[in-house]
Formats: sequence, C-alpha cells, structure tokens
Amino acid sequence: PPDGQSPPWYPSPKGGTDQDWADSYRKAADLVKQMTLVEKVNVTTGTGWSMQMCVGNTGPVPRLKFPALCLQDGPLGIRFADNITAFPAGITVGATWNKELMYQRGRAHGKEARLKGIHVLLGPAMGPLGRMPAGGRVWEGFGSDPVLQGIAAAQTIKGIQEEGVQATAKHYVGNEQEHFRQAWEWGTPNAISSNIDDRTLHEIYAWPFADSIKAGVASIMCSYNQVNNSYACQNSRLLNGVLKDELGFQGYVQSDWLAQRSGVASTLAGLDMTMPGDGLKWADGKSLWGPELTKSVLNGSVPVERLDDMATRIVAAWYQLGQDDTEKWPLPPPDGDGGPNFSSWTNDEVGPLHPGSPDSTETGVVNKFVNAQGEGADFHGNLVRRVAAEGTVLVKNDDGVLPLSRDGYKDRVKPDKRAKFRVGVFGEDARLNRDGINACPDRSCNVGTLASGWGSGAVEFPYLIEPMSALRKAFNNESVYVTDWLENDVPSQKEIVEDQDVCIVFANSDAGEGFEAWKNVHGDRPDLNLQKGGDKLIQDVAKGCGKGKGNVVVVIHTVGPVILEKWIDLPNVKAVVIAHLPGQESGNSLVDILFGDVNPSGHLPYTIAKKEDDFGPGGKIKYLPNPMDGLVPQQNFSEGLYIDYRHFDKYDIAPRYEFGYGLSYTTFKLSSLMIVAKGTKTPLPAPRPSGVAPPTFPTTLPDPKSALFPPGFKKLEKYIYPYIKSTDEIQSSEVKTSKLQSPLSPAGGAQGGNPDLYTTVLSVSATVTNTGPVDGDCVVQVYVHLPQDYSDPETGEAVDFPVKLLRAFEKVHVSALDQGEETDGKTSEHGIGGGNRKVVRFDLTRKDVSYWDVKRQNWVMPTSKEIGISVGFSSRDLPLQGGY
Ligand code: NOJ
Repeated sequence: PPDGQSPPWYPSPKGGTDQDWADSYRKAADLVKQMTLVEKVNVTTGTGWSMQMCVGNTGPVPRLKFPALCLQDGPLGIRFADNITAFPAGITVGATWNKELMYQRGRAHGKEARLKGIHVLLGPAMGPLGRMPAGGRVWEGFGSDPVLQGIAAAQTIKGIQEEGVQATAKHYVGNEQEHFRQAWEWGTPNAISSNIDDRTLHEIYAWPFADSIKAGVASIMCSYNQVNNSYACQNSRLLNGVLKDELGFQGYVQSDWLAQRSGVASTLAGLDMTMPGDGLKWADGKSLWGPELTKSVLNGSVPVERLDDMATRIVAAWYQLGQDDTEKWPLPPPDGDGGPNFSSWTNDEVGPLHPGSPDSTETGVVNKFVNAQGEGADFHGNLVRRVAAEGTVLVKNDDGVLPLSRDGYKDRVKPDKRAKFRVGVFGEDARLNRDGINACPDRSCNVGTLASGWGSGAVEFPYLIEPMSALRKAFNNESVYVTDWLENDVPSQKEIVEDQDVCIVFANSDAGEGFEAWKNVHGDRPDLNLQKGGDKLIQDVAKGCGKGKGNVVVVIHTVGPVILEKWIDLPNVKAVVIAHLPGQESGNSLVDILFGDVNPSGHLPYTIAKKEDDFGPGGKIKYLPNPMDGLVPQQNFSEGLYIDYRHFDKYDIAPRYEFGYGLSYTTFKLSSLMIVAKGTKTPLPAPRPSGVAPPTFPTTLPDPKSALFPPGFKKLEKYIYPYIKSTDEIQSSEVKTSKLQSPLSPAGGAQGGNPDLYTTVLSVSATVTNTGPVDGDCVVQVYVHLPQDYSDPETGEAVDFPVKLLRAFEKVHVSALDQGEETDGKTSEHGIGGGNRKVVRFDLTRKDVSYWDVKRQNWVMPTSKEIGISVGFSSRDLPLQGGY
C-alpha cells in the first residue's frame, strides 16, 4: 500500500510444492523426520559471529551427517580468503550486457567457493537496484534496471549453482542506501523504512528476485531496512506472501547479519535461518533463535510445522545442489571433511577454531591455502580480463583517437623523425596504493587505482595489475616515450604536460558498505563528482597537453554514474572510457580496449546525467538532519516506477549519456524488424496451477526435557547452542496449528510465479549489419512501450506507463564485411547469418508486456491498444519501431 504500511500474510507457505524440487524435498523430509527438536533448531541458527571459519556458520547434525553449513561473502569473489580471484564487480558485469560472460563468471566464482569448502555463497546482489545513483552498494549489483539485474542475476546463479554451490539472492528488499540501513551504525533507534507501493515493488524491486527464483536460487537474504514500516526479515507480506506464495520460492530465507529483529514474529513471517546467530547486538551470543526458538516451539508460540518447514527448506537446498553427493563433487584437497579449508579470521596456517569465544583455547590447522584460481587455460584471471574489457564503456571517441597505436602515430609521420612520440600518463588512479593493494580493511579507502568498491562485497586482491604498468608494456619503447605523473595535482614543471602528443588521464569515484567510511564517503557517496580532485586534474591536463593541442584520453574507474560536465566538451578531450570496477586484471583489460585488441562493446547499465538534480528527488540519499526526530526514518519511494531512464523519459530530460549507451570501433546498422505474435492477446494469464503437495510431518512435541543441555556438555562462552538450560519457562506444550489462511496469489503457482507469465507471446527479430572497418560485438536492446493515456477497459481506471521499458537484449559478434563471407544462412550462437550480418531473435513473455494490477493482484496485459516495440543500441537510439 502507498501509505507505508504492510498487510499481514499468514501462515508461512511450505516448501516442496514445485516439481523441480520434489526429489530434494522427499530426501529432506526423510532426514528432518529423524531430527530431534534441538537438531532442527540447530540447522536454522548461526553459531555466532566468528565462532567458526566462515562469516556465517550453521549448527550441524552430526548424528545424521548433516554438516555445519559455511556461508561466505560475496558477490565478486571469496571474501577473507587466499588464492582466490578478485572478479570484476557486478556493475562491470552488467555493463558487458553479455549473458555468456555473466554465466561464466558465476561458474568460476562458484567453483572457487566449492574448492574452498563453502556451501552457500552470499551473492549475487540485485538490491540495491540503483534507485539512488549515489547509493554505497549499487556497484555490487548489475545496473539500474530490473530486467538487466534479473537476467544478470539469473545467469550468475545458474553458473554458481552448476558448480554445486548454493547462491544467495540479496538484499531483499529496498536496501537502496547505506544511511540508516540499520540502527546501530547510524545511531537511530530503528532502521530506515523504505516505503514502496505494491506496483513498484513488483515491477522494479522484486523483479530480479523473481528471475532468481525462476533460476532455482537456493537462498534469499532479507535486508536490514524496514519495508513499509515492517522489518524486511519479519515482513510477512514480503516473505510469506510475495516470496513464498506468489513467487513460489522453494529455498530458504536467511537474515542479513543481525537483520533479524524479533524471535517469534520473524519465524511466523517466513524467516528460515538467522545469521550470524547472535541477537540484537553484534557478537552478543544472545540469539533470538537457538534456545529461544526451542522454547517458543515447546511453548506453542511457534507451530512445530513451521520449524519443520524451516529445517526442511534448508536441508532440501543442500540436496538440490547435490551437496550430499561426494562422488559428483569430490571434496576439495587436501581437506577431508568437506568443511571450509580457510579461516576468515587469520592468515596463519594454525589458528583458533572458535575465535569469537572468549574462553576457547582450541587451535588447529585452519588455512590450507588451497588454490582456487584455476590453472592454464582455465585460469580465472583470463576471464576477469575479458569481463573487465567488455564492461568498459567507450562514451566518447572523437576523430577516432582510439584505438591507440603501440608505435605512437598511426598513419602519420612525426615531423621530426628522430624524435619519439610522447605519451603522458596522469593521475593516482593509474598506480597502486603504495601501502599495499589490500592496505585498507575491506578495501575501504580510495588510494591508488580503483578496482573494487568496499565492504563485505570486496575481497583481498591476490594481485592487481595497475593501468600504468600495463600501459608501459603496451607501448613500443623504441618509438614511444612514456612519461608518468601519478598524482592528482598537476606537475609544476610545465613540460611534463606540455611536451606530450597524447595525455592519458585517470580519475575515479568510490563507495562502499556503510560499516566503513573513507573521508566524507560514509558508504553512500555524498555527490556524484569525481573524487580526489579528478575534475581539476582532467581540466588542467587538457589545458596543458601538447600546449592545448595534444589529444586527451580520459579513463574513469567508478562505482556508478559520475558527472562529467566540467570537461567533457573540451575540444581536446577526444576520448573517454568508463572502466567501472575491473578487478585484478585492471591494467590489462584497459590496454585491450585502448589499443583495440578488444573492440569496445560495453554499454552503460545506468544513466549519466548532466547534473545530479536531473536524477530527480529519488536520486538523493536521505541524510536526515536529526534522525532521532522520528522513531523510524522514512524514505518514501514516491517516484514509483520512475527511476533512471524512466525518470529521464517522463520529464524529457536530456542525459549526458543515456542508459544502454556505448560506442564501438566499428559501426552497426539495424534493419528488417519482424514481430510475430503467438496466440491471441488476453489480459490475464491462465489460472494459477496447483503445485505438488509439500511433505507432512508428525505434529507431536517431544518432552521438553529432551531439549536440555546434555549432561556434561562443555559450553563455549557466546557460542550459540539450540539447548535450553531448564524447562521452567515451558508452560504449555499444547500443539497449535494455524487457522489463518491469507488468500493465495493468482500470480503464483511455480518458481518465479504463474508459469503462464513466462509464455512467449511475441517474437521479435532484426538484422544487425557491421558497416564499419573492424569486427565487433553489438548489443541489441529491445524496449516495450505500453500504451500512453490508457484506461483499463474493465475498471475504467487510468493506468500510467513509463515511456519505455527494457525487456530483452543480446550481444552478437558481427564481422566486418571484408573479413567475413557472404551471409551463409547458418544458425550461429545467437542468430542466423554470416558475413557482416546477423539476425537476432528475442522472445518476449506475457510478463514482459504486462503491468502489476494492485487490485487484481495479478499481471495484466493492456490488450485494447497497441503495444509498441522498439529495437536499437541504447534507450535513446532505437532505429526500429513496430507494434504488437
Ligand atoms: C552484511 C551485508 O549487508 C551482507 O551483504 C553480507 O553478506 C553480510 N554482512 C555478511 O558479511
């Protein structure tokens, strides 16, 4: 509801209703039926912060060989671990618009997790989605559009899970800013409430989660913030209603770390696992579950069927990923027990086994230094380099100044043949942090080249190729003289700038998770400007370079949109590349683009505005002047659907570079649009199908005494156990079952929602021709235009639609004519054809051409007017137009 309130949805739907999970649920139910009450509780509750090797660890059931699960960050690599890969961040991956690379990166990431003994990877991130361009963690996700996020998330999840590792879709939902995301970091009595109306929730923020569920994601992490004034981890409408009923989620909901804010309420609202297990305060050892959950079931406050469902969901996810199958997934050497073979808490080989417990003295071999980085042709660094190059967006290239030539001048001869061609490289962002590449905790400072944002989504770089060293190697030093000035102030010796033929200048903008700050960047960026004097450096270099006649190439590393206006139109600023957050192969991937070894094919996964205000009120972080004034800081998402390009379109604002924009060293043409409708248009999908029946369990409760600490049990201080100390607090052991039943959603029925929502209703095809000099990859984008001035024929109510909505894209490789043969008509990976032409095809689903009708609680297709379809190269360059 738009009034910032959250209706109740009970009881929590049971898992095991989808045919795809039927086997896993059968096995899980068999196992859970053999578990005692405390064993079931143990599976749902983390053992406490840093009690075991991973950032999150559940309790095991050794008797039944169900392991303690290791949960580890995060979306761009394995946090707190050695011999792993620092992959490009999500925003870079989104900028590739390359589905195959999204999948391959997920796969490599998943494989590293498996080799390190991780069961559950805490990624991908798809929230924040990018409502606020300055949001501190927007870079962890894939871009400011639900479809781009959803496709990238699904590809990543497929990749991770095909390696036998559970993926986690996070953060559900509305965690769009760091300020006030939870109470304890920001000194507010409560976390912020993101107030999101139901239609916007469905069409924007929950959309990528639906795609993740459809891809079979094993776990979903609920976020710190409140949504419509109910904490996301105890919001029954969001967890029971949207995730589990409507979207048919079969896995389990885990809390973000300390995002659980109540015991019984969160249990009934659909939370299945609490992380890291501690209670309301960090590392306090006083869980809201553990013994409290045991008590609440014995007291009848929580029906035992809810606990059975929680445990079964967790165990089923383990079976679904084949994590019980040691033949399929041989345990990583040299570890024998399948648990983690690294410690998040020390780099030493031998270390404490339970570092979080003040009274634990046990030590052992905790780091086995297993190399997970891949070898030979499978070395993951090669993939990092490809993704980073394809996620680099060329936004300006006047006079074809790029690609650079390794010999300096291209076809021209320098007037004085003896003199070398001169290149100057400027800016701190081209060099390494002199204190070490991992000097700041969780990468929380902007020093040296920027290759990752900071926080739990960052890793320890195994190595980092900075731009300067890669550039030096790339130029032929017989013919090119390279000078560097790797600071952000301009040299006082004027000739360092003035003597150059070409100046390559670097600048950046950093952000991260709110538990760390760097200068005035408290997670969220305070503005969208380049940091550390980047604008002035570029302006000064442009002014001086070759006494104003030198060509300037600007390279930007950034977490998201930056304002370029101070220098973008300067006449000698010829080329600009947005290299995002490239990961460990930064310099190499940049060289690939600058020298044309890789033809740029990245496109912006967000809009670059001319000024910050152009993003609208929703584009601003809420810094409450006095956050103590209200009990709950309110953040109204009153712009609704109108974020990023939807906002620019609605208010007819010219961006500097629009969503989806990116240049190539070749040119492409689009022609021959074909739109084929399948079947007849109907406003509503087919009725919700009924799924399979979930497993059932005996509803009897055990004798409360069976939940007591076993005699002689040696407790560790602060460690969270499922046992109770006495039975005094157990007042009734009456078995309660819920009589409430909220109405089931007509939009449900399978993973991702009613399967008919995913029926193809129209196919679109078009021909791409490479009309330029070199081979290249072209990103073809399909946008849908739902009718303007529309009223629902049944209700007569006006329905407002954004001007356009991205619904599909494909990246195709197209040869330049003189390099290929004539069209051969054969099918290739993404289309038909050969030579310099390819046909690209897209299938659009019912959901793609529908809107969320709040009254009907269903997706409705506007059938009484034509739906526009356009195909092109960006959100504002759509040469082909048609209708459905
Ligand atoms: C909090 C972050 O929000 C989440 O993304 C992360 O997975 C957990 N901490 C664990 O580190």
